[in-house]
Amino acid sequence: MGYRVVVAGATGNVGREMLNILAEREFPIAELAAVASARSQGDQIEFGETGKMLKVQNIEHFDWSGWDIALFAIGSDATKIYAPIAAAAGCTVIDNSSLYRMEPDVPLIVPEVNPEAIDGYKARNIIANPNCSTAQMVVALKPLHDAATIKRVVVSTYQSVSGAGKAGMDELFEQSRNIFVGDPAEPKKFTKQIAFNVIPHIDKFLDDGFTKEEWKMVVETKKIMDPKVKVTATCVRVPVFVGHSEAINIEFEKELSAEDAQKILREAPGVMLVDKREDGGYVTPVECVGEFATYVSRVREDPTVDNGLVLWCVSDNLRKGAALNAVQIAELLGRRHLKKA
Ligand SMILES: NC(=O)c1ccc[n+]([C@@H]2O[C@H](COP(=O)([O-])OP(=O)(O)OC[C@H]3O[C@@H](n4cnc5c(N)ncnc54)[C@H](OP(=O)(O)O)[C@@H]3O)[C@@H](O)[C@H]2O)c1
Repeated sequence: MGYRVVVAGATGNVGREMLNILAEREFPIAELAAVASARSQGDQIEFGETGKMLKVQNIEHFDWSGWDIALFAIGSDATKIYAPIAAAAGCTVIDNSSLYRMEPDVPLIVPEVNPEAIDGYKARNIIANPNCSTAQMVVALKPLHDAATIKRVVVSTYQSVSGAGKAGMDELFEQSRNIFVGDPAEPKKFTKQIAFNVIPHIDKFLDDGFTKEEWKMVVETKKIMDPKVKVTATCVRVPVFVGHSEAINIEFEKELSAEDAQKILREAPGVMLVDKREDGGYVTPVECVGEFATYVSRVREDPTVDNGLVLWCVSDNLRKGAALNAVQIAELLGRRHLKKA
């Protein structure tokens, strides 16, 4: 007994993680299809570490009828073409691109935060997965918001190159190697050298001087958690392969001590508190790779505002930021709405 599941973008960073996570979590699968562009047609791809090989199918010729769930990770342009076709054929699309996130009739879901919003999926048969930086932040913020009502958040991100797809990871690897051997390190995917550098620019610039990545953190947090919460973000690309980090300053309506916040976070779904206030007593991105949790460290009171806290938050951007959250949405959809074949 299980569902007929399609992974679209199965050859990409997020798609491969989706296959790993479906296998790791023993998602009930009756049949599984791996789909990507014509470039990958016929390639073999492993279903997690099960040893089972899947032949990649060309999305252009894929017949979506009879499939229950499609996990999409193919970018906005291709999603615009294929998601409506899949949804119209009766296959519920769980999409990782930014295309549908702010559509009012498409639910934007982080299962630990707003699971009940999934019930609105029937309007379009599409569910959106948030931006990677938003997903991990709201997992950490929601239990604190429930306890003391967040008024304002100031977040600075330290985002890994895998957030820019396979090409981003290749660029960091090649530039690092070229610099070591004295070869030129020309930027291609990123706007400036990423190896041994940081770049305060992710996605395109908007008229107000913020970038689209920063705007996404603002509007997605409001849609998922609470429209009254004010957010201001600075998003920065750093030379880390996998794992996004965030320094988050939070202002609450009510008083919340660091100790009480730690207690709440220790019990919160999806959160792992590692906060020892000693050398190495916090989590860094390399330690969160391949993990499910959103790690929170360095919880402390901010003496410069009333009811302020500061914390450090780290998660695997390919997992909670994309593939894991999408699979959790599929699990939620199954529990609440779908019948197993
Ligand atoms: N990386 C992250 O942290 C993250 C987080 C949240 C959301 N996302 C979103 O997830 C999506 C995928 O990101 P990624 O990091 O996995 O990128 P990626 O590593 O570059 O992989 C892109 C995938 O999309 C497929 N694809 C590209 N154009 C296509 C087309 N016209 N038709 C069908 N398939 C096509 C590719 O297939 P081929 O191999 O055949 O080219 C590949 O499987 C993007 O929308 C991204 O914004 C990524």
